[in-house]
Amino acid sequence: MNDKLTVLIIGSGGREHALLRACQKSPLCSAVHAAPGNGGMQTEAPCHPLDIEDPVATVALARSINADLVIIGPEAPLAAGVADALREAGISTYGPGRAGAVLEASKAACKAFFDRHGIPTAKWETFTDLDTALAHLDSVDFPVVVKASGLAAGKGVIICGDRPVAEEAVRSMLLDNAFGTSGHQIVIEEFLDGQEVSLMVMVSGDNHVCLPPSQDHKRIGDGDTGPNTGGMGAFAPALIADEAVMRIVRTTIIEPTLAGFRAEGIDYRGTLFIGIMLDRRGQPKVLEFNVRFGDPECQVLLPLCETDPLALIRDCANGTLQPDEVRIRQDAALIVVLAAKGYPGPYTKGDHIQLPACLPPSVEIIHAGTRLDGESLVSAGGRVLGVVAIAPSLAE
Ligand code: AMP
Ligand code: GLY
Repeated sequence: MNDKLTVLIIGSGGREHALLRACQKSPLCSAVHAAPGNGGMQTEAPCHPLDIEDPVATVALARSINADLVIIGPEAPLAAGVADALREAGISTYGPGRAGAVLEASKAACKAFFDRHGIPTAKWETFTDLDTALAHLDSVDFPVVVKASGLAAGKGVIICGDRPVAEEAVRSMLLDNAFGTSGHQIVIEEFLDGQEVSLMVMVSGDNHVCLPPSQDHKRIGDGDTGPNTGGMGAFAPALIADEAVMRIVRTTIIEPTLAGFRAEGIDYRGTLFIGIMLDRRGQPKVLEFNVRFGDPECQVLLPLCETDPLALIRDCANGTLQPDEVRIRQDAALIVVLAAKGYPGPYTKGDHIQLPACLPPSVEIIHAGTRLDGESLVSAGGRVLGVVAIAPSLAE
């Protein structure tokens, strides 16, 4: 019997290309497909057109290629119930169902989960009514953070230094529809000062494994300047999250979260991405939960797994993860993202891309917003490529 896996990867970004590469390197994998994929993924694996938020179409595609395992990259299909539909169809799936995905799809629901389970986070209130929200601004200290509760592709968070900016943010969401229905409920929360760390926890029901802490560079410009992006680069391990910090994170955040999943009947199987703010004393608070790998964090974390990442993903999906058996390389990894001119504003598309014929050892190029135009590769998204390097230390 052939127990090697046919894997289907859902998504088309750098994260999904990195997942595809990891699967192809794995001795457990017999074939890997993607939907819809990008220019790089298309040259390396069969890619299928798909509306990734359509559960019925995704199940049909998985069946048509006899997929043994589906890995869902982005949050939108998770929030749309694609993982639930795949599991109902008997297909092993990495990524939480709707009950878990709501933690990213609704910031209000996520903050309520934190409060129910005593997880440290910024003080918050939620609003759907304009006048009530504006009145609340009389009682807060500035800066304050105004967030669209729903999915907003990383753009729905506004840090407001003073009352006029906060009023404008509240009006843009509740009155002017700036984020569509995602902004019809808002969260107004305390501003947290400190250093951010991204922690990816691979969860398999009651068991879990923490990948090394990483840091993501959000601003477009060098020296942390300019507007926020999806992430212009990342590195791991993030040394500011040392063992003492991680002990606090485990006891005050991870354990209560997993206990919360149990108490609420959420059988979570996938990545829980914990966005953490560390204050000056190294005390962590949760900024947010995402229900998927970070992009570009994923691109530096998979190469640091000495244990086959596909084995971890398969075991999480099947609920058979053995945390003690997971080994992480004692190396460092770093990614620099190349973006299209104009990004994160309106950007050019269709630029021709010439890749170098050979790369230094331990360096690889991951595709994000690329597509094939006949034989040639052109840009097709804001974040176009990522260059990943792995070495014994970050300095190297
Ligand atoms: P979120 O999508 O909630 O993680 O917010 C996106 C980004 O906004 C975070 O990665 C932080 O850089 C920033 N942010 C969110 N909430 C806060 C907060 N309460 N205090 C300071 N910065 C925040
Ligand atoms: N890089 C941050 C994110 O994936 O949300």
